[in-house]
Amino acid sequence: MKLHLFSVAILVVVLPMSVSMAPTNSMESTNQWDDNTPVFQVLKELGEPMPAHYRPQHDAQAVKQGEELIKYGVTQAPDGTTTTLQSQFFVCIDCHNVSREDPDLQKSDPETRLDYAIQHQRRFLPGTTFYGIVNRTSWYNGDYQKKYGALATTAHKNLENAIQLCATKCAMGRDLEEWELEAVLAYFWSLELRLKDLNLSESDWKKLRLTPRLPRNNQRLISWMKGLYLNASPATFSKPPVVRTATDHYIPDIEKGKAIYVLSCMSCHKNGGITAFTLENSPVTYRLMRDHTAFGANFSVYKAVRNGIKASPGKGYMPNFPLQRMSDNQLQDLQAFIMNQATHDSLPLEPFVDWIK
Ligand code: HEC
Ligand code: HEC
Repeated sequence: MKLHLFSVAILVVVLPMSVSMAPTNSMESTNQWDDNTPVFQVLKELGEPMPAHYRPQHDAQAVKQGEELIKYGVTQAPDGTTTTLQSQFFVCIDCHNVSREDPDLQKSDPETRLDYAIQHQRRFLPGTTFYGIVNRTSWYNGDYQKKYGALATTAHKNLENAIQLCATKCAMGRDLEEWELEAVLAYFWSLELRLKDLNLSESDWKKLRLTPRLPRNNQRLISWMKGLYLNASPATFSKPPVVRTATDHYIPDIEKGKAIYVLSCMSCHKNGGITAFTLENSPVTYRLMRDHTAFGANFSVYKAVRNGIKASPGKGYMPNFPLQRMSDNQLQDLQAFIMNQATHDSLPLEPFVDWIK
């Protein structure tokens, strides 16, 4: 009798609470996930094994140290001293964004990425964003495996190795110490994908919230969720485009060319930037660039973008852009913008130029 009363009491107490916390019409809701729930939390609750780089603890101090290493190349060590600069040439964010850059995470498309960059004030860079990097299952994909050979093999399925590879090869700097690597990982975990990033429809949400937790269902939900974002950034290298033929009817877009010039090229080549080759909004610069855009020219913008520029002693190098990071049409947009600026009164670079300061 006593027992019975007790369970009635629990029902009375618990029921109103779950109703008030649950979103509308989800009385039967099995899963209390919302926009801010990390994708990994869902996968974990459904029984997916966690990867080797999984770090369940989010130590705020480590996140801050990681962020400083990524953005400034230095931070304060646990013993209170300031670290040495990670690289003399670069900081990680010269080549990588740290926020979302694709409107649809199922695609790696430079055209929609540029539109997104224009809408959300992002830069347009050769490296992929660190946002959601912990959600990927392989790194240095496609042609990067060929470019870095044996080194890339160890980084392909291991995020810690991928970080060290880029610190030393891409950023031309020193290895990260063990605690620095943990700090960078902690920061990366603060940038993990959340359900709001997956553009879920009403019926997707229903599926997530109402599917009963049974092993078979869980497996299905896991595969479905993993299909909602790319688990690897594809990379295809290409040659500088050849002279356009009469069958190429692409009409270049000067405004997009301007966005590329500023959000990509000038983000490294601005005055006071990381290279001595300064790109400005001046006719002199554009004429020089125009002369550099002749298809066969040494250092043509096409060659620079597709092949990259090798480091000369004491200087950094320019990374090449794979097709997924800049399309051939976008190269034509860029060229059209440069031609226009070289021969007409220069279009102002606002508002883009304020975003790369
Ligand atoms: C000069 C440009 C440059 C700099 C500086 C740079 N990276 Fe990269 N990074 C790249 C490129 C290019 C790739 C290959 C494309 C990509 O992002 O997948 C890459 C790839 C990566 C990857 C694998 C990403 C993936 O999904 O394949 C990681 C991790 C990474 N970089 C971390 C860092 C860290 C940490 C730093 C700073 C210590 C750094 N990078 C500095 C250019 C750079
Ligand atoms: C991640 C940084 C970065 C980005 C983005 C970048 N560059 Fe570069 N670029 C460099 C570096 C570093 C060099 C080597 C220059 C030096 O010697 O200081 C270079 C060199 C060049 C050169 C050769 C200059 C010469 O005569 O030596 C050209 C041309 C060039 N870049 C064009 C571009 C264009 C066009 C874009 C935009 C599509 C662009 N760059 C984007 C970093 C970058």
